[in-house]
Amino acid sequence: MNKLLIETYKNTFHAKPSKYFMAPCRVNLIGEHTDYNKGLALPAAISKFIHAAVGKRDDRKICLKSLNKLDVITADLDDIKNKPEQSWGNYPLGIFATLIKRGYNLPFGLNIIYSSNVPIASGLSSSAALLDLTAFIASKMYGIPMKNEEIAMLAHQSETEFNGLQCGIMDEFAIALGKRNKCIILDCKDNSFSYEDISFKDLSLVVIVSNVRRNLVHSPYNQRVEECREGLSRIKKHYNIDSLSDVKVTDLPEVRRIVGNETLFKRIKHVVTENQRVRDFVKASKEGDTSMMCKLLNESHESLKTDYEVTGEYLDYIHDISLRAGALAERMTGAGFGGSSIALIKNEDFETFKESVFREYYKKYKIRPLIFLADICDGLIEKDL
Ligand code: GLA
Repeated sequence: MNKLLIETYKNTFHAKPSKYFMAPCRVNLIGEHTDYNKGLALPAAISKFIHAAVGKRDDRKICLKSLNKLDVITADLDDIKNKPEQSWGNYPLGIFATLIKRGYNLPFGLNIIYSSNVPIASGLSSSAALLDLTAFIASKMYGIPMKNEEIAMLAHQSETEFNGLQCGIMDEFAIALGKRNKCIILDCKDNSFSYEDISFKDLSLVVIVSNVRRNLVHSPYNQRVEECREGLSRIKKHYNIDSLSDVKVTDLPEVRRIVGNETLFKRIKHVVTENQRVRDFVKASKEGDTSMMCKLLNESHESLKTDYEVTGEYLDYIHDISLRAGALAERMTGAGFGGSSIALIKNEDFETFKESVFREYYKKYKIRPLIFLADICDGLIEKDL
């Protein structure tokens, strides 16, 4: 529990908070840009958290503060709109607007103060963590019973409708459903999921944050979603399929002919081969075949670089220097366009790996990357005060 957060709550709102909540962030092991194509992903929650101290108000205002910012963002429950001046507050506010849109009666306002050690706009889903956390807070404070997957769905509805990112469901699910030392195999065809014990044997999972920030709403993310839609509609004229994830690897030569556009074909090829890589990765983990797991992770990065074109200069450089520094596998994780990567390295190599990647990256870009061992953890947490 963060004592400074509770103290700041008292100083800001002149009252004591009544509840304390936490949400982790996530990495995705493999299965990238597949979720909005109804495909497979393999994410896990990791232990960098957003914390929140919360209390009821006597009026109908939602008052939001972040420990890192001076101002308090205030909105009335009866008139919540997405406004640029509300900046990060548009994420939590969207949750209340979405609940009201769904017909829930929210009888009182809330004070919420957040603090975070999740690197912001880094590809580790700080925004999905903020959304899931606020959806969790709302369900508990207003007594709206919701399973964790329903919290994820609410957060996702809010992000797409209120914040305007046409994202898939992976981040919200990974954070809401996180389980200690487990990965989540998520099938976005029907949002079904199960837990997998992914065995890294003598390898460690490392996260490398490029510290190149990006805003996905203003990145080519929505453009990729559109390209996939267009590719699907061209294939549908010939094949009876519901999503790109129904296309098999063996169909690709025929799909190339039908689609008749090399850029669209490359996007489709990534999605189709990436789904297959998720299946092969889970199989390799069950068989204890870490060299196959590493090969698939490296192939995933290559596909995201060459066919999907979302890695960008910084993540490609991190990929190269990581492999040179002894990583057995390295790939971008999340949306790309800057953001973060994951690597698998021998347990005993972490310190030398970290030192070498930091030095090389800093030498080229004068940006300090953040490099840490991933600790796979539980999802949403409620604590009594
Ligand atoms: C972002 C989105 C997810 C997913 C990933 C790419 O993190 O929020 O829904 O599409 O990019 O796999």
